[in-house]
Amino acid sequence: MNTIEAITSRRNIKQFKADAIDKEKVIAWLEAASYSPNHRMTEPWQLAFVGPETRAELNHKTDFGGAPLVVLMTSKGSALPVEKEENAYAVACFAQSFMLAAHSEGAGTFWSSLAAAPKMREILGIPDEDVVIGIFGVGYPEEVPPAKPRTSIQDKLFELP
Ligand SMILES: Cc1cc2nc3c(=O)[nH]c(=O)nc-3n(C[C@H](O)[C@H](O)[C@H](O)COP(=O)(O)O)c2cc1C
Repeated sequence: MNTIEAITSRRNIKQFKADAIDKEKVIAWLEAASYSPNHRMTEPWQLAFVGPETRAELNHKTDFGGAPLVVLMTSKGSALPVEKEENAYAVACFAQSFMLAAHSEGAGTFWSSLAAAPKMREILGIPDEDVVIGIFGVGYPEEVPPAKPRTSIQDKLFELP
């Protein structure tokens, strides 16, 4: 699968097979994602595997589509607003890199923003200054939804003088 195929064929997976996923593989995809761009090498990604007790407390409506593994991604806060913002951009890049690495090896990911809610932050022990990027179900897709059509990039692209 080349990079363009990986980008265009990745989908947000809502239903996973019950098959376990090898944690070592997931760690390898996270390692790959650590080569994502980040300003001044802050490496602002903070990650946690969410265990069954915590997952039950989160009480997600589909339990992350039955994903065998759940990964929390947060971005390190900063007293400098620009740094805090740029850190979040870097972790969003990290998230995409991770999703593409997983997808390129036949796995799928489900990006949920559930962890951003105050009660969920509390359950997950996320410090106030940190930014929640997402909480991700990871596993093998039971179903891959069709791509949602995108607006032509021509409609988003302007030429500045
Ligand atoms: C910041 C962010 C938060 C998201 N939160 C959710 C979410 O809470 N629930 C969900 O089903 N999808 C969530 N998504 C995934 C989008 O819904 C999904 O990417 C979009 O519908 C396009 O589908 P595709 O990724 O399959 O192309 C989120 C995506 C981003 C970037």
